[in-house]
Amino acid sequence: MQVLRRVAETQRLSERVRCAGERIALVPTMGALHRGHRALLAEARGRADRAWVSIFVNPTQFDAASDLESYPRNLEEDLAVCREEGVDVVFAPSEEELYPAGAQTWVEVVDLSRPLCGAARPGHFRGVATVVTKLLLATRPHLAVFGHKDHQQLAVVRRLVRDLCLDVEVVGVPTVREPDGLALSSRNVHLGPETRRQARVLVRALRAAQAAGSGGEQRRDVLLALVEREIAKAPLARLDYAELRDPDTLEPAPSRLSGPTLLALAVRFPCGEGRTVRLIDNCVLHPRAAEEEGT
Ligand code: PAJ
Repeated sequence: MQVLRRVAETQRLSERVRCAGERIALVPTMGALHRGHRALLAEARGRADRAWVSIFVNPTQFDAASDLESYPRNLEEDLAVCREEGVDVVFAPSEEELYPAGAQTWVEVVDLSRPLCGAARPGHFRGVATVVTKLLLATRPHLAVFGHKDHQQLAVVRRLVRDLCLDVEVVGVPTVREPDGLALSSRNVHLGPETRRQARVLVRALRAAQAAGSGGEQRRDVLLALVEREIAKAPLARLDYAELRDPDTLEPAPSRLSGPTLLALAVRFPCGEGRTVRLIDNCVLHPRAAEEEGT
């Protein structure tokens, strides 16, 4: 397994691999690799000749300095995971390498970046879109693999790839969960035993809405009230948002759902010293039309 730090050497290697007729799949990450990332690596390995990973904690997508500082970092452990998963190349650039002195070029996917996590975290998706573009240009993969766990991020990446005519296929992988349903996340390490227990409320709320939707409930407000009631059952949980939107455009859902609809949640939990940890999760509801009821 090769570990590359420089953009130029990474581009040269990509060129050689491409000339040899081999396909490269890239998994962009910020490290702190867990089973969710491993699922993406397995997908990459299965779909291409070469599995490449990038590990870069991207400062421009953090809105709070404290969040950037406390982000878990352990390159040695991450490299061990990559070796285990049969990764061929790890691209782990420095900040100066991706953001050279005087950098002033940004990629902004305007409308998709506004709602949901974008509303609470201004500039976050501009940071994501910019770094993903840089990572794709540095590694020149045939395909890039992302998790549905970050649904809005995946929508932003699909859009920027189309808008910038990038020659890369974007692949989405289903969310990997703990046995009790909690979505794996690098941020889960900040949960104490009690908040960890209560964090199950996110997936419970999603499942309650899914059950209601497939049972024929199509009214947006009823579904959202159901979600809010579920979240309120966890006394430490503070709901940031619970929203129903179009899965691709992220436009607000109509008052009566008519097709597949994204249900996206963000919930905060206290994690000591007045700080909070913000967890996100989502699912796509497939509400059953009223006329199908009883069939
Ligand atoms: P990071 O949080 O490290 O996530 C890297 C990839 O792993 C993302 O595509 C994310 O959706 C996916 N992922 C995280 N948890 C997952 C889970 N439980 N199941 C399946 N996939 C999961 O997302 C980022 O990094 C950054 O924003 C990045 C795209 C690298 C740009 O900096």
